[in-house]
Amino acid sequence: MKKTHKENTVGPWAKQKLDGLESYLHHYLQVLEKFGFKVVYIDAFAGAGKSEVRNSWKGADDDDLLLFDDDFVQSEAEFIEGSPRRALGLKYSFHGHYFFDQDPVRAKLLEDLQSEFPEKNIYVRVGDANPLIQKLAKKLRGRDTRGFAFLDPYGPHLHWDTIKSLVETKNVEVMINFPLGMAVNRMIKRNGDIPENCRHDLNLCFGTNEWEPLVYNEQRTLFGTTDRQKVDNTAARLLGLYVDRLKNYSTLLRRRAWLEIRLERRFTTCCGRGRTTLASRLPTIS
Ligand SMILES: C[S@@+](CC[C@H](N)C(=O)[O-])C[C@H]1O[C@@H](n2cnc3c(N)ncnc32)[C@H](O)[C@@H]1O
Repeated sequence: MKKTHKENTVGPWAKQKLDGLESYLHHYLQVLEKFGFKVVYIDAFAGAGKSEVRNSWKGADDDDLLLFDDDFVQSEAEFIEGSPRRALGLKYSFHGHYFFDQDPVRAKLLEDLQSEFPEKNIYVRVGDANPLIQKLAKKLRGRDTRGFAFLDPYGPHLHWDTIKSLVETKNVEVMINFPLGMAVNRMIKRNGDIPENCRHDLNLCFGTNEWEPLVYNEQRTLFGTTDRQKVDNTAARLLGLYVDRLKNYSTLLRRRAWLEIRLERRFTTCCGRGRTTLASRLPTIS
């Protein structure tokens, strides 16, 4: 059965992503603790706060499930705490937590976290994260402010201008979970036919239209038309463009900024001691 985004379910790799985030946040706060900064956490595609991990039972058809009793199948369900809870449950604390989500049902679940964590400052907003972040970023330029933004969209919803607004504060570290294989690459149709709204979304996501000539070979036919063929290594090309743009942009802003790309089997992590960290599920890139 195909997953809809209305369900709060995640693939088994989400645990790896969230464990990595939690560990990074722990060390980030531990280091900053002694400097007395006001440190904020921004989770702009925050989700529901808790998700069920899809396992092999999900997608099994009714005949398969008849072989097992309900208690057995239920016992296989596993729930994991999502990124907002990971940030709230840390040993060292952020001074403020900004949770944004476009889905009102998820936003309500995020609001409910306040009663569970009464001692934390939690600010929930429903809506498109892009204008919300860009507005918030203007307030994060103070010398005594530091911030960490976890940007985890499941489509090309994070606009390049939004990343820029955070990086320009020079105070906010950004971790992006780039939805390369699951969303962006799938929008690049083999036959070259990209609906105008998808092209528009991808232009906003990459901050340029340079992705399009990278992913298609074009040839004139005998009939004077243009034939487009999707190239084989589209995913690597798209990630290369995105990472190069992040690197160039960081370098423009900070002469000594650097970005190290570390690749793992299922989960690609790109760590920056400067300002930008990128994570994406892509099997290969060097
Ligand atoms: C991948 S999920 C987030 C999972 C969460 N970070 C976690 O690890 O627990 C992406 C979320 O982004 C939300 N979303 C999609 N488009 C959005 C937008 N333009 N602005 C804000 N939230 C958006 C969806 O409703 C969904 O809850």
